[in-house]
Amino acid sequence: MKLVAGNWKMNGDKAMAQALVADLAARQAAKRAASAVVLCPPAYLLPQVAAAAAGKRLNVGGQDCSAEAGPGAFTGEISATMLRDAGCDYVIVGHSERRARHGESDALVRAKAERALAAGLIPIICVGETLEQRQSGDAVAVVRRQVAGSLPDSARQQVVVIAYEPVWAIGTGKTATPDDVRAMHGEIRAQVAGLGPQVPPVPLLYGGSVKPDNAAELMAQPNVDGALVGGASLKAADFWAIVEACR
Ligand code: 13P
Repeated sequence: MKLVAGNWKMNGDKAMAQALVADLAARQAAKRAASAVVLCPPAYLLPQVAAAAAGKRLNVGGQDCSAEAGPGAFTGEISATMLRDAGCDYVIVGHSERRARHGESDALVRAKAERALAAGLIPIICVGETLEQRQSGDAVAVVRRQVAGSLPDSARQQVVVIAYEPVWAIGTGKTATPDDVRAMHGEIRAQVAGLGPQVPPVPLLYGGSVKPDNAAELMAQPNVDGALVGGASLKAADFWAIVEACR
C-alpha cells in the first residue's frame, strides 16, 4: 500500500482544520482509501487534528522535531516525545525549507530522525537537489550525500520513510518528469539496498507539485511508494484525488 502525506506547512487555522479533516474522514468512510494517509498540520493544530482523525484511518504527523530529547531549555522547539503525546505517528524531518531557511545540516536531520525513532515516530526524511545542482549535473551526487548523511544508523531495523523532493519542483507547479522521478528513486533504492538487508523496506515518496492531474502517472513509476503533498493537501478534493490516484 502506498503512503500519501499532506504537509500543510504554515497554513490553516482551527476552522480550516476542522472542516478539512471532517471532509477527509467522510471520504474515507464512504470508500476506504487506496493508500495510507498522513496529515501534517502546523504544531498548534496537532491535538485538534489528532482528535478529529482518531478512528478514521487518518494518521497525523509533525512537520519537524527537535534534535534534543528534552524536556529542557530549548525555546521554540518541540520534541519528538511531545509530538507522540499530541497523537502523531510520523514526523517530517529535513524538509528543504528547513534545510535552506534554517541551515539544517544532514547531521542535524539525522539527529532529528533518531529522536523520532526513539519516541516511536516514523521519520519522513526529506532530500532533494536545487535547480542549480540539477543543471550542473550534480543532482544524484547531492541526493546520495543527503541520504548517506541523514539516515539514522538504525534505519535498517526500524521504519523510516525517505521523501525525494527536488527543491525546484516545490510550490512551483514544475513537477519532475516521470523519467526524472524514476531515475532518482532508482538511485535512492540502490543506495538504501547497499546499506544491507532492510527490515522492513524503506518507502520512497515523491514530493514537488504533486497534483490530481499528475499523481497517477508519478505514482505508477517503479520505486515510488507514495507522495508528500504540499499545496494540494490543503483542499480535501485535491488531496483525496491524489490518495485515490494510488489505486
Ligand atoms: P508542493 O506540493 O506545494 O509543491 O509542496 C511539496 C512539499 O514541499 C511537500 O513537503
